[in-house]
Amino acid sequence: MKKPRIVVANWKMNLDVHQASLLTHKLADRIHVYRDVEVVLAPNYLCLQPLSMEIDRRKFRLAAQDGYFIDEGSYTGAVSFSQLRNLVHYAIVGHSERRRYFSESLEIVRDKVTAAVRNGIVPILCVGETREERNLKETRQVLHDQIVSALSDLTGEDVEQMVIAYEPVWAIGGHAPATPEDIEQAVNWLRYQVSELYGEKVENRLRVLYGGSDEPEFVSGIMGVEGVDGLLVGHASLNAEQFADIVEGVHIASLSED
Ligand code: PGA
Repeated sequence: MKKPRIVVANWKMNLDVHQASLLTHKLADRIHVYRDVEVVLAPNYLCLQPLSMEIDRRKFRLAAQDGYFIDEGSYTGAVSFSQLRNLVHYAIVGHSERRRYFSESLEIVRDKVTAAVRNGIVPILCVGETREERNLKETRQVLHDQIVSALSDLTGEDVEQMVIAYEPVWAIGGHAPATPEDIEQAVNWLRYQVSELYGEKVENRLRVLYGGSDEPEFVSGIMGVEGVDGLLVGHASLNAEQFADIVEGVHIASLSED
């Protein structure tokens, strides 16, 4: 059976509870129920509870943008995966903005991935090289290290449920994604790492997304890349028309593969 495609809206630190609810209603008007595309909304923590009561579950699933790796205790300001349990289906882990602005090391990302899985939440693990690493031709090494360390506490059964997003840091937040050739190379390499560690069956079941300047006009090119199962969308997900067009584009690309 074909894996359902996924489109994730990473709203980052944008929108208050009211604005998030408004955008969700606009999206609900524009997005159909697709059997082949899962649409996942990742608002800030504050919005998760109210949105969980508002969303049409045939259309949307929720994701947290992060979570803390210890389940409970004296960790002021943190929200644990155990507190997010039953509220979200997915959690984004290891986004480059977390690695960069919040100093998340490979070990912290690994512990977060493990904690998400332990609490029944599917991690969307983000990996990708910076511009400097790309210029130094270190992309393969960086992806290798990020993947091998993040998955190191998991079994093959855990990994096959997971989602990994290839997000080259240099392509985030602009209007030009990586080229399909670049994406293909990185995704092949990333899938190869997983198959070396867990075998081909696990690698086949795992879903891989691309993120970084996803805008409607680029969807068919990116989704045409072998091994890409969906998109992790940042700024374009804050615009109802653009995001609905992206979801529609992923659906059309999925139909054309049948
Ligand atoms: P962007 O962000 O679509 O704004 O490039 C993607 C991301 O950071 O997940």
